[in-house]
Amino acid sequence: MKRNHKFIYALLAAGLLVTGCGQSTQKTEEPDASSPDITEAFIQENIAFSVKQYEHLSTLVPEDKLPRTFIQEEAKSVSSGTSWWTSGFYPGTLLYLYEMSGDSSMLQLAEQKLEILEKEKDNKGTHDLGFMLFCSFGNAYRITGNEHYKEVMLQGAESLATRFHPETGLIKSWDHGSWKYPVIIDNMMNLEFLFWASDVSGDDKYRNINISHADSTLKNHFRDDFSSYHVVDYDPATGQVVDKKTHQGKADDSAWSRGQSWGLYGYTVMYRDTKDPAYLAQAENIAAFILDHPNMPADMVPYWDYDAPATDTTYRDASAAALNASALLELSKYTADKTKAEKYVSAAEKTLISLSSDKYRAKLGENGGFILMHSVGSLPHNSEVDVPLTYADYYYIEALKRYQEWFLD
Ligand code: GLY
Repeated sequence: MKRNHKFIYALLAAGLLVTGCGQSTQKTEEPDASSPDITEAFIQENIAFSVKQYEHLSTLVPEDKLPRTFIQEEAKSVSSGTSWWTSGFYPGTLLYLYEMSGDSSMLQLAEQKLEILEKEKDNKGTHDLGFMLFCSFGNAYRITGNEHYKEVMLQGAESLATRFHPETGLIKSWDHGSWKYPVIIDNMMNLEFLFWASDVSGDDKYRNINISHADSTLKNHFRDDFSSYHVVDYDPATGQVVDKKTHQGKADDSAWSRGQSWGLYGYTVMYRDTKDPAYLAQAENIAAFILDHPNMPADMVPYWDYDAPATDTTYRDASAAALNASALLELSKYTADKTKAEKYVSAAEKTLISLSSDKYRAKLGENGGFILMHSVGSLPHNSEVDVPLTYADYYYIEALKRYQEWFLD
């Protein structure tokens, strides 16, 4: 691996490169000699490919819609309206690609979609506003400094905060179904948006919501092995747990793969923004569940559920792999244990190499213009099974960006 000197010196200081303590487990062994290293050239090649692929994708999306997936058998592009939870990922990916390539057409395409997405700032019917507005407007504001984007996000954060109720101490995830007060592990991903809102507005309200939500989730969503339930339903009056179920996993007591990744990423962000060691420990424990799981395939692209049979025909979830790579790279910066840090970076490297291979990365002009193949939306609903998904692309590009910024000279 062509990591930068800072990382290697840190490992040397910890004695890892001498003692070999950083050797990874059987499942995270170094790629074989034929695997590429993650170098600047490797990243540039993947970004150049992705820019071309997204140029193609942009021609397939109706003006008032956002790309969601592609059905290979029917050669059909599937897009969504702005209120669907994945609406922010396409503009977000375009913005990352703009930053990494300097290609202004990516910025222009993103800006067109921000115009139609803006109205979601008033959407109080979903917990997904972080995905929808922070991945899109958040990146746009960070890159361009356009104050209008800031106003959109502050209003959106206010809308999201209306879903927090002090009786439960949690943000309510869904309004649909027969649930009383459902909270899904995915909800951890929307907290980054609220930290941003507190930082920018100076109002601690959003930050306090996050801490309350993350503490209750830590207490109620996780099992002894640090895997998580997908949905915990609460009594809205008392905040008592009513039920623990799955929605997109194999079984109520199984470990739905993307859910584990949402938790990993979410508690890493909680530590980033609070420096509370309990959140760091939680993220490390989730990482251990994922990386040491006997069903984790050697290429580090998980089956759609860790409790699904580990067979050649079981569907993989590239979106969970991309999320893991991005989250592990960040977690490696916080953990004091250099053995763990090395393990996280090695796992992320292996994941990125797999995702960038022909097995998961599409060919130019194919896959409906999406970058990655082989994700699973919701297998129990027979929805989006073994398809490209807009969020798999987003976290894949984010992980490449993080690797380039943090681990290459
Ligand atoms: N947040 C919904 C999903 O992960 O499928």
